[in-house]
Amino acid sequence: MAEDPQSVTGAQLDAELASLLQIETFDPPAEFREQALLNDPGIYEQAAADPQAWWAAQAGELDWFQRWTRVLDDDDPPFYKWFTGGTLNVSYNCLDRHVIAGRGERVAFHWRGEGGSERDITYAELLAEVERCASALKDLGVRKGDVVGIYLPMIPEVVVAMLACARIGAPHNVVFGGFSAEAVRERMEFSEAKVLIPVDGAARKGRTAPVKDRVDEVMDDLESLEKIVVVQSKGTPCQMREGRDVYYEQILADADPVCPAEPLDAEHPLYILYTSGSTAKPKGILHTTGGYLTGVSATHRYVFDLKGEEGGSSSDVYWCAADVGWVTGHSYIVYGPLCNGATSVMWEGAPDYPHQGIWWEIVERYRVSILYCAPTAIRACIKWGAQWPNKHDLSSLRLLGSVGEPINPKAWLWYHKVIGSGRCPIVDTWWQTETGAIMISPLPGITATKPGSATRPLPGVFAEVLDESSGEPIREGQGLLVLTQPWPSMLRTLYKEEERFIDTYFRRFGRETYLVGDAARRDADGYLWVIGRIDDVVNVSGHRLSTAEVESAIVAHPDVAEAAVIGQHDEDTGQAIVAFVTLQGELEGDADTVEGIRETVAERIGKFARPRRIIWTDDLPKTRSGKIMRRLLRDIAEGRALGDVTTLRDPAVMGQLQERIGELRAEEG
Ligand code: WTA
Repeated sequence: MAEDPQSVTGAQLDAELASLLQIETFDPPAEFREQALLNDPGIYEQAAADPQAWWAAQAGELDWFQRWTRVLDDDDPPFYKWFTGGTLNVSYNCLDRHVIAGRGERVAFHWRGEGGSERDITYAELLAEVERCASALKDLGVRKGDVVGIYLPMIPEVVVAMLACARIGAPHNVVFGGFSAEAVRERMEFSEAKVLIPVDGAARKGRTAPVKDRVDEVMDDLESLEKIVVVQSKGTPCQMREGRDVYYEQILADADPVCPAEPLDAEHPLYILYTSGSTAKPKGILHTTGGYLTGVSATHRYVFDLKGEEGGSSSDVYWCAADVGWVTGHSYIVYGPLCNGATSVMWEGAPDYPHQGIWWEIVERYRVSILYCAPTAIRACIKWGAQWPNKHDLSSLRLLGSVGEPINPKAWLWYHKVIGSGRCPIVDTWWQTETGAIMISPLPGITATKPGSATRPLPGVFAEVLDESSGEPIREGQGLLVLTQPWPSMLRTLYKEEERFIDTYFRRFGRETYLVGDAARRDADGYLWVIGRIDDVVNVSGHRLSTAEVESAIVAHPDVAEAAVIGQHDEDTGQAIVAFVTLQGELEGDADTVEGIRETVAERIGKFARPRRIIWTDDLPKTRSGKIMRRLLRDIAEGRALGDVTTLRDPAVMGQLQERIGELRAEEG
């Protein structure tokens, strides 16, 4: 494994990966283990013996205005409270304390624009801009507790806006830039946002897409929304409505440059982030202040073995290549790294623009030492070929991370071999929007890894696999993944939907067992292998979507009578969306209808949610009570033998569907 990766190409690489597939476990390289922050396996037992003491020690790494009086209030599960009595401020912990300690000149972000422009932002600069932004928000009338919507791409202002909200105690509600304006409107409506911060236009592989004007088209009737603050990123002309719309640059220039961080209760809401669940209505995951920051900073430090608060040549350059609009971006682009005083890379663009080697060019340029990305991106790189990374000096890398979906062993090994030259441990991190921080992952200086397994729960985290029918823990085998003890960064509720919070997570196995929503296998060594969702959530390129959400978008098309959506296994994107659609009356679907439906989904949700395939059908397989049997649709789409169809109202439906699929397969060759 020591040979030069530059020499590895094509068939030779395939042969080497095939031989690596025989290896079951990969120990942490001795060199890595020796220098690791955590390298004593005893840490797990130590944390398990007294989890509250473990988490209190992690919380002790933060700066508190007032220390807590109780670590965990578990009087009323599942409504847990952490670090009660304590006050702190997230923006203070992410900025002020580093500047006060003399690290103001340290680079927080090497920002790189899609067109190649660069901007290094130091902690001192970031603090100055955050203070101005916080003052400006206050000038607009934003008060503690008011919700601020943020709809910005990967530009420094998104970080400034989030931290400014945190500074004054205004929970933010960030919407991923790939969501459509309508999806933004819905999320603003559910959260009753008072202010929305969009960009004028966003970079999209060499072109600029208008954003503010699209927002205007749908936002008019929203009562709660008082102000729209437009960031002038691309100079895209946009309509500004008198009295409502202001420019970000203008209000910051006019604002008081001093805005002290507000001491906030440990349980003060930090943000709401909408994610997909079983129904069409997205769930507003609510995270609070003290526990969340404790969880993300500790996991960021230990899972990524982060070095170098003191600077110097050994200090890490960390790059999380996710989008800030998803939870991975919240926790591991913004809050975890900044709280730890890390130097990060922030890349505005796509992985394949201006060319398919841009990521590796960036790694070389900034001497990135820790890279954290999604398996879907790795699989895309495999497809593009090893010649792209091989062109660059990747010797700065020392640790690789994976997140968002199960990583297949082949992608794991390619990552290990081609990107990491066989010397970088890989941390496959399992977690969710709900968990706030990484829950199951190797500790890179301790844990032997197995390609495809996220290994074991982190110290202070307790996971089990339960038997679906008996609810008993499974020692070896497959079942439902649960977390059996509260953890500091857990969601506190679903915003304005307390019953749904209990029903979704704490009904099935009681109020003290958190139902994850994933199936998992536990092997003989106690390693966990996450298999996939048990609800109607699909994961397309690491983007979490609900089938019901897509169905409700499809039926908004005037020609559609009914639709059922499933996730089909896909080599590249993990899962792809397949829609079974029944049209109104005698209508016949053609290429225009397909385009029209895809366009409707893009408008309602976003382009990333468009179905890969649309299959016309006169009827859907339903039970006698009218429930759509998605399981049968999945079997059909994956070409599996059909299970029991006798409970169907009209078993003939299946024959017709199978014929259609056969035709489609033939057409696609
Ligand atoms: C899946 C993303 C296997 C899982 C951080 C989970 C994973 C859902 C992994 C959460 C992993 C995430 N291995 N599956 N390492 N990480 N998942 O809320 O199904 O966007 O429930 O959070 O992604 O997606 P979410």
